[in-house]
Amino acid sequence: MALPAAVFLLALTSLSAASAPDCKDLVRPFIPDDPKLVFGKWVYVMGAGDPKPYHKALESLKSSWIDLSPTSDSQVVTLRWGDNCFDRCISGEANATVSGITTTFRKNLSDHKGHLLQTCSDCLLWTDAFRNGDTTGRYILQFTRTGKKDPKDVEIFRKQVGCLSFPENFHSYDGKTELCPDDKQSTE
Ligand SMILES: *[C@@H]1O[C@H](CO)[C@@H](O)[C@H](O)[C@H]1NC(C)=O
Ligand SMILES: *[C@@H]1O[C@H](CO)[C@@H](O)[C@H](O)[C@H]1NC(C)=O
Repeated sequence: MALPAAVFLLALTSLSAASAPDCKDLVRPFIPDDPKLVFGKWVYVMGAGDPKPYHKALESLKSSWIDLSPTSDSQVVTLRWGDNCFDRCISGEANATVSGITTTFRKNLSDHKGHLLQTCSDCLLWTDAFRNGDTTGRYILQFTRTGKKDPKDVEIFRKQVGCLSFPENFHSYDGKTELCPDDKQSTE
């Protein structure tokens, strides 16, 4: 099968704090050797938004998961999510279209366009720009398989946030708020 994507890229080589990577390395889009490693369920652990109202909006995101699965079209990935937001669960599904390193999808009337960045192993780091009518903004979101995060990975994320000029007081999942139920568990 044609690899469904220089799509959602996952860092197979993890960035290490010891090597003190500079911004050029830290913000480089990542192409996965094996896109399969990107599929399945991911739990949101840290994020930042820009401009301020979008950064602030992440405060109301108490927990969040995403699920990525391939489709018969190598350019299309199914994105599902469950956001615990405004004290309720909001779930949804979108077809994400992959073209080169760029992936686009529509969520809650916003058109998102972004790519993955290098990150820790077993982590997924996504950044995008979105447009909703006249409104534009951007996000950076870090996910892990377990919803837990390693302190040294937090430090790398902090640097990446800084390199990309997102607000430095990024948000973190408290690790406690229950994830919204998934009525359609991934088979990945
Ligand atoms: C995704 O694409 C498939 C095939 O075109 C379509 O059947 C499905 O309704 C789409 N899903 C969403 C959420 O748009
Ligand atoms: C979806 O967008 C509407 C209008 O922009 C906004 O009021 C609402 O809070 C958004 N919902 C979520 C879950 O982000």
